[in-house]
Amino acid sequence: MKRTITTVAAGLACLCMYAGEDLPAPQIINIAARNTVSLDGVWKSIVDPYENGYYDYRLKPLKDGSSYFADKDFDADRTKLYEYNFNTDRDILVPGDWNTQRPQLYYYEGTVWYRKIFRYSPSPDKRTFIYFGAANYETVVGLNGRKIGKHTGGYTPFNFEITGQVRKGDNSLVVKVDNKRRPEGVPTVNSDWWNYGGITRSVEIVEVPMTFIRDYFLQLKKGSSNVAAGWVRLDGEQAEQSVTVEIPELGIAHKVRTDAQGYAAFEFRIRPELWSPENPRLYDVKITSETDSVSDRIGFRTISTKGTDILLNGKKIYCRGVSIHEEKPYGLGGRAWSEEHARTLLGWAKEMGCNFVRLAHYPHNENMVRVAEEMGLMVWSEIPVYWTIHWDDPDTYANAEAQLVDMVTRDKNRANVVVWSVANETPHGPSRLKFLSSLIARTREMDPTRLVSAAMEKDYISGTKVTVKDDLADVVDLISFNQYIGWYDGSPEKCDRMEWTFDIKKPVFITEFGGGAVYGRHGDAGERFTEEYMEDLYRRSIEMFKRIPGLAGTTPWVLKDFRSPRRQIVGIQDDYNRKGLISDQGGRKKAFYVMKEWYEEIKAEEELRTE
Ligand code: GCU
Repeated sequence: MKRTITTVAAGLACLCMYAGEDLPAPQIINIAARNTVSLDGVWKSIVDPYENGYYDYRLKPLKDGSSYFADKDFDADRTKLYEYNFNTDRDILVPGDWNTQRPQLYYYEGTVWYRKIFRYSPSPDKRTFIYFGAANYETVVGLNGRKIGKHTGGYTPFNFEITGQVRKGDNSLVVKVDNKRRPEGVPTVNSDWWNYGGITRSVEIVEVPMTFIRDYFLQLKKGSSNVAAGWVRLDGEQAEQSVTVEIPELGIAHKVRTDAQGYAAFEFRIRPELWSPENPRLYDVKITSETDSVSDRIGFRTISTKGTDILLNGKKIYCRGVSIHEEKPYGLGGRAWSEEHARTLLGWAKEMGCNFVRLAHYPHNENMVRVAEEMGLMVWSEIPVYWTIHWDDPDTYANAEAQLVDMVTRDKNRANVVVWSVANETPHGPSRLKFLSSLIARTREMDPTRLVSAAMEKDYISGTKVTVKDDLADVVDLISFNQYIGWYDGSPEKCDRMEWTFDIKKPVFITEFGGGAVYGRHGDAGERFTEEYMEDLYRRSIEMFKRIPGLAGTTPWVLKDFRSPRRQIVGIQDDYNRKGLISDQGGRKKAFYVMKEWYEEIKAEEELRTE
């Protein structure tokens, strides 16, 4: 990882602590609690399919002065030849994918340049970073004519230090975003969702003390409901400081001292009201060092498995879930990003009787996780190691691991996140097993407190006997898999004849099932894409599930119809995957009520059991 850390005396004109040639600085968590200036709003854009602003005609990268990072103003000096001009090019909104902002960009896969001029007045005794909630897929950032770094991956936050580069007055921020799919990418070239490109989440200028609280972890210690464990990491010259962790409502003011690397672990007894879907209790937490302080809202709960049971706070719970893509709940589709989008989508899940959501197939925006935490929805969070990833490519692994690390780093303090998932429907084989086992080990090393799994696939034992035969099942905490009996595999009546058996005694979790229907299209239950077909499929699937030993959770595919270039029947799909229980316009299909009825039954049985 190329990163040179230069030491500067505080108070001098600061140089970057992270003069990263191309890699972002380590992720700063809980951005909402920092001193930030939002750069959201109208930016300028240049659509550049031939990457004319980055390479010369021999495909050699241009020097900063000649690339679009230079942000030259053609009108300022007409004796010069600049064949681009942000000032007269088109507006684009940040955050937001470009596909749904301009009809010409609907299918566009390539580079779009973004430019924002922002006025700033840097404080001499502070450090400054530029933070992106996410940008899909490969992003190169330049400030005031100089390239400062590159990030790969479409769904995780990244930040670059710009201390000493951001200047008093106007600054030119130029961002190159390229959403071309890549065989060696994560995900690879084939996926069943729209390849929305662009700066899809918020952009902030973050100002922090010279030595600041960059990262921290505070959850219940694994296996305990009354001992909190965690750590804090400072970033800056004054690494050794005394730090206090306060939870006023629990009478906690725990002091630690960080070491020469700015790190301190801690552990202390607490007696919290435990977070649960029925009581999503969060506590005000304040972490204070000698030079910085950060406030957060943190919940405490335990999650574990016992045989085939999932235990939340030591009690067996059925995960009444639904899978969700990160797409706006109404209108044109497009990447969801706001708190309002999150409240609508998650409100639909609650309406269906859910206590769990699978945020597929990539880390969603932070609003989705935090709003779900407030609403009492457990979360399955996943990286887009999806289908035919290049298992033998070390760069692909490094990319996947970086996305995993950033997913866990951002959300490890969210009590409602209970499962980290490292893959979806990946083909068996030794390279894949090694790749995923390494990701699982890395996850457990970062966070021993949560369950780790992946969405596997079903296997036939014989004509009507099914199970999951996957070596990965030995390594994960849940036997979680996708199955489409009645849609891709036979018709709904086939559900009636199936027999499920599992050798491994772990909780069984069906991470996908279902079928498609056009909202408002009615007909015979035997006719595909009618609501009646989908309703019948759901009814028979549920009856089949009731016969599965050790079933501990279901996340039907999918909450809402979503865009996918693979769904091409005009008049039926129109570029939408129609397996949504709710249509892209918010229409509840008949199957929605089948799920709602079943989940209400399960909840009532659970309440009876615990009375
Ligand atoms: C797969 C896959 C989903 C996809 C779904 C479908 O299981 O995991 O991403 O959308 O099936 O075919 O609708």
